[in-house]
Amino acid sequence: MTTNCSANYLGLSLNSPIVIGACSLTSCPETVRELAIAGAGAIVLPSIFEEQLEDYSHDDYRVADQVHHAALGSLTAKSLPEVESDLFCNGGPAAYLELIGSLKATTGMPIIASMNGCHGGEWLHFARQIEKAGASAIEASLESCTTNPELNANEVEERLVRGVHELCELVSIPVSVKLSPYHSNLGHLAWELQHAGASGLVCFGHEPTWDVKLERIRATPVWGLTPASLINPTISGILRVRSSGPRICLAASGGISSIEDVIASVISGADVVMITSEIYRSGPDAVAHLIDALSGYLGRHGFDSYEELVANRPRLDASIRGMQLGCLTQTHAYRDPTPSPCLRSGDRWGHIQ
Ligand SMILES: Cc1cc2nc3c(=O)[nH]c(=O)nc-3n(C[C@H](O)[C@H](O)[C@H](O)COP(=O)(O)O)c2cc1C
Repeated sequence: MTTNCSANYLGLSLNSPIVIGACSLTSCPETVRELAIAGAGAIVLPSIFEEQLEDYSHDDYRVADQVHHAALGSLTAKSLPEVESDLFCNGGPAAYLELIGSLKATTGMPIIASMNGCHGGEWLHFARQIEKAGASAIEASLESCTTNPELNANEVEERLVRGVHELCELVSIPVSVKLSPYHSNLGHLAWELQHAGASGLVCFGHEPTWDVKLERIRATPVWGLTPASLINPTISGILRVRSSGPRICLAASGGISSIEDVIASVISGADVVMITSEIYRSGPDAVAHLIDALSGYLGRHGFDSYEELVANRPRLDASIRGMQLGCLTQTHAYRDPTPSPCLRSGDRWGHIQ
């Protein structure tokens, strides 16, 4: 017998807590159909970008950034490119709205649109059209990797909170915020975003990795998949937000690939999990395998439904500092998760015997 795996996220009823994170796969109707059949609870569309929605406005923030980049020289000289709209895999604003309409008509899953920018402003008004086109919610990524030394951490967070507030005022569908892990106090920010009107947080967004070419003395950002099961930063973020108490929905995102990752995220406080890289690696079938395994886990542990597990997860009663001190001071053997080299000869450091 399969256990009821339906979940609640942003006030939406989902068939399962497995949500497909924003990426180009979710703009392909055939793939979305397969993901729905496999049991995904919802999909997040690839982002539509601020730069596509209004003329690039060189306000003080960006100009200051540019000056700073110039000062750094060739390492970052190309960091602020002019981007042609048709280079985006989302097809541009009109195609984006059409996609929302057609996916809504052909799939029973909630469709979550994604808006990516760095400030509030006119471009956010596109959210109204997203709502009209039939999206069930909007996921907003409103942070950029600023290097402007004149912006302090408070100003960066205030800018984010203002942008989210502006967006929430424009639409009546729920808004979630995809966060970067790099905040001094995630719990405080979560409360601020909740007060600004956000219904949920996604911990965390994806960052390009830096490919530093030693011979060419150059660094370039590379957009790649997350290695399987690299979930510690995700778990840590979920725990930090949950232990600070806001009643906001949480989606765990980053490195989730196995049923162990899914359950660890939920026990730590996530309401749903978002999976992207694993779908690129294993295809939509990965979703069906995870849901089967989740159902088995719930059955083995005596839960009648996924929601029952969510309702019964442990409250965080110790401070994270206390827990960390405990593991730092009481452990005498340390885990090394580095995979052993798979050479057949030699020891694990590669010495030939
Ligand atoms: C190929 C690819 C495309 C992505 N496109 C977007 C995007 O358009 N907008 C966005 O917010 N995140 C995007 N992401 C980030 C994912 O939504 C997700 O946050 C990230 O990959 C972490 O999840 P994962 O470890 O399961 O891959 C993309 C990720 C990948 C791998």
